[in-house]
Amino acid sequence: MKLLLIVFILHQLIRVLVAADPPVSSPQPAHITTLSTSMPAFSPGVEDKHKHSHKKLVIALVVVSTALAALVLSLLCFWIYQHTKHPSKSNKKKNAQRSDAEKGVAAAPSLSKFSSVKLVGMKGSVPIIDYKQIAKDTNNFKESNILGEGGFGCVYKACLDDNLDVAVKKLHCETQIAEREFENEVDLLSKIQHPNIISLLGCSIDGNTRFIVYELMQNGSLEAQLHGPSHGSALTWHMRMKIALDTARGLEYLHEHCYPPVIHRDMKSSNILLDAKFNAKLSDFGLAIIDGSQSKKNIKLSGTLGYVAPEYLLDGELTDKSDVYAFGVVLLELLLGRKPVEKVAPAQCQSIVTWAIPQLTDRSKLPNIVDPVIRNTMDPKHLYQVAAVAVLCVQPEPSYRPLITDVLHSLVPLVTTELGGTLRVSQVPKHVSSADPPLNTSH
Ligand SMILES: Nc1ncnc2c1ncn2[C@@H]1O[C@H](COP(=O)(O)OP(=O)(O)OP(=O)(O)O)[C@@H](O)[C@H]1O
Ligand SMILES: [Mg+2]
Repeated sequence: MKLLLIVFILHQLIRVLVAADPPVSSPQPAHITTLSTSMPAFSPGVEDKHKHSHKKLVIALVVVSTALAALVLSLLCFWIYQHTKHPSKSNKKKNAQRSDAEKGVAAAPSLSKFSSVKLVGMKGSVPIIDYKQIAKDTNNFKESNILGEGGFGCVYKACLDDNLDVAVKKLHCETQIAEREFENEVDLLSKIQHPNIISLLGCSIDGNTRFIVYELMQNGSLEAQLHGPSHGSALTWHMRMKIALDTARGLEYLHEHCYPPVIHRDMKSSNILLDAKFNAKLSDFGLAIIDGSQSKKNIKLSGTLGYVAPEYLLDGELTDKSDVYAFGVVLLELLLGRKPVEKVAPAQCQSIVTWAIPQLTDRSKLPNIVDPVIRNTMDPKHLYQVAAVAVLCVQPEPSYRPLITDVLHSLVPLVTTELGGTLRVSQVPKHVSSADPPLNTSH
């Protein structure tokens, strides 16, 4: 538009210049026409004037076209400058998303800053910490230092260098499986860095025992928060939506940004850890597998009851959609405050998926099955949307499940801007603000 305007102005300028030519043609146009047609060879004075006016016109045209060329050139330079100096809209959007993801997530500490931590070598790019230091800093694996217990041993809190709080996973590697999981986790985590994936700080070895040192996640696992003594009372609706979004971001990184893609294979609430500000990070990469690798065909069926996708359980078919299924189960846990599998009779268990699906799709029933701790604290429209996402993720047919990227994009508008989404606080009904404490009801 601007260019058109300038061209128009220049056009007008040419017209004015031509028109402003000395009163050779304009005052007596008829006269000249007559002279030029009737006696061209015998009118030297008029011809001179004519030549003179032509000369002026040519000069004006040269001047104007030079100006026009200079203008076009400078506009072109300006356009190039704009597009190289300033990121495009899509780049800006991407950067905004990245900064959203990183909002409030402190960078993981690095052991290199702690000079007195005794290192005895390197395992690839991972520092090997002296076992004696690990033993000392966990108070000799004192019971009060235990943060949690897993399949191959406990996780302990340690204070390295009297300064840096870390978590140390102790793995008893009597079997080859534990050893393989240790190698797998250290290898994969050493290559992955993302705000929603746990940071690996180092490892250690003592005989048959292996240790993995991670950043400490002060608020423990999502499982402990939801199903432990507090029964989810520390987690408001908005915090739960943020945890779901953070988890989706971590998974999206594995599925879409790692090459070759990584399938986590053990997505569950005990493997979603929460830092001091309740930022969620994926942990436990012992079972994770590189998609498309040869090893995928020979892998042993693994996972946790309640989270395993039916096609993987029945046919061993493993894809990124297996993680999406497990993510759907976690979303149901966040929504309903129930465990993935619950005992309903001494010899009978019920899966959250089969129990919830019929009620999740019925708008009149849905509000009644929501976790009592957060019931009626959210906009019902948002509740229906999250329930719809969860229903899609746990579809028995993997091709009906969305990609984790689609899940992520559907969650972003449901998370407040202050928690890394795009939901403006003014869009939240007055009685449901992110600052509101959850209703104090118990199960
Ligand atoms: N970095 C950490 N910071 C804080 N707590 C942690 C950390 N890593 C693990 N934990 C705690 O230790 C618990 C045990 O972790 P671990 O990954 O060994 O087992 P799990 O996930 O519970 O079970 P599984 O062995 O089936 O994976 C976790 O659930 C969590 O509560
Ligand atoms: Mg775990």
